[in-house]
Amino acid sequence: MVITAAEEKKSRVLSGMRPTGRLHIGHYFGALQNWVRLQNEVLPAGRVVAQHAAPLQSQEPAYECFYFIADWHALTSDYADTSGVAENTLQIMIDYLAAGLDPAKSVIFQQSAIPEHAELHLLLSMVTPLGWLERVPTYKEALENVKDKDLHTYGFLGYPVLQCGDIVMYSEPGAQLFVPVGEDQVSHVEISREIVRRFNSFYGFSLREQLFEKQHREVLGWLCAKFGFWGATEFTPEQKPLLRAELTARITQAGVKNISEQVPNFGSFFDLIDVLTEPDVMLTKTPRIPGADGRKMSKSYGNAITLSESDADIRAKTKVMVTDPARKRRSDPGNPDVCPVYDWHKLFSTKETLQWAAEGCRTAGIGCIECKAKMADHLIEWIAPIRERRLYYEGQRKLVKDIIQDGSVRARRIAQKT
Ligand code: TRP
Ligand code: SF4
Repeated sequence: MVITAAEEKKSRVLSGMRPTGRLHIGHYFGALQNWVRLQNEVLPAGRVVAQHAAPLQSQEPAYECFYFIADWHALTSDYADTSGVAENTLQIMIDYLAAGLDPAKSVIFQQSAIPEHAELHLLLSMVTPLGWLERVPTYKEALENVKDKDLHTYGFLGYPVLQCGDIVMYSEPGAQLFVPVGEDQVSHVEISREIVRRFNSFYGFSLREQLFEKQHREVLGWLCAKFGFWGATEFTPEQKPLLRAELTARITQAGVKNISEQVPNFGSFFDLIDVLTEPDVMLTKTPRIPGADGRKMSKSYGNAITLSESDADIRAKTKVMVTDPARKRRSDPGNPDVCPVYDWHKLFSTKETLQWAAEGCRTAGIGCIECKAKMADHLIEWIAPIRERRLYYEGQRKLVKDIIQDGSVRARRIAQKT
């Protein structure tokens, strides 16, 4: 089948982060870099402009991208002290812009500027079974591990429902909806799919007219018997709407799929449309990026490099980085594959430096001190342009606020349609 560009709807991409503090290089490689790549991806040349002499590259973006600041999600855990949320929202926007998100290409917005997100969350919450939420792995983990905050709240349990609303708000019939996230967020997209399926089964389901025609009494008979509506197949024209409503309610409650399996030929007597779009995860494949101490990179561990880190701090933090623990003395050969410094080399260094480090490590030809210093050189070189853009926007707070405002107005127009 040949699909022309006009028939095919552009896929949408949506993702967000909570404004809980400055972003670090872990966020960059785990998410932002991928967001920027998707924003800049263009359709293959020739597809869209076939009638013209094929240009070398089309300028037509491959995706409609939506990136947002999940400030309400920050409140699910930080409700007791909300003093940082507003400033963090501004700062995360600066991080987004410094990392290369472009308001001319992506819709960049703030969740709480769009009350429809709260409204959709409310509606979705009506059909979300408690058990589904209680079984979300991130929920159970947080309850066990987070001790400094009380997370036994309604809002925190409902976190994935709010997230589902964020995502499916940008449903467009006939278009795919991708959510680029890391491994840790997969379960949230999964439960979003389930909530959407349930929502659609309630509100996208309708019985076809033929079901009520005389020649199809058999299927109607099965259904009526199943729900104990004895004699209901002999309805008057006045009773028909009532029967339709009762059956619709019972079928959606029991599950359309279940009933289809139990009632022969039922499949051709109803329509099921996707009111909301089931989202798809787009897994961000990230090279391992451990913190400076080898643990998961996190601001609270103090093992992260933020996108605004100074040269001096980068030098200081990398100097004390954990290395291959087997390499105790300068004369001991090491294994770069188990060394966080080498993981960082892979992100920032040139091929030549990588080879120099791996070889020098294995043969004890170099010391860890010079290995780290070299990596820091490359890291500083890499971070300089991001940091510079960050500094620029830091001095333009009004501009940044305007960008948030403008993006939120654009997003809200779409949200209101949904
Ligand atoms: N839960 C995400 C995080 O902690 C943030 C988030 C909220 C999100 N809503 C979303 C991510 C919708 C993707 C899509 O990083
Ligand atoms: Fe790590 Fe480099 Fe030391 Fe090897 S030489 S252990 S790669 S810091």
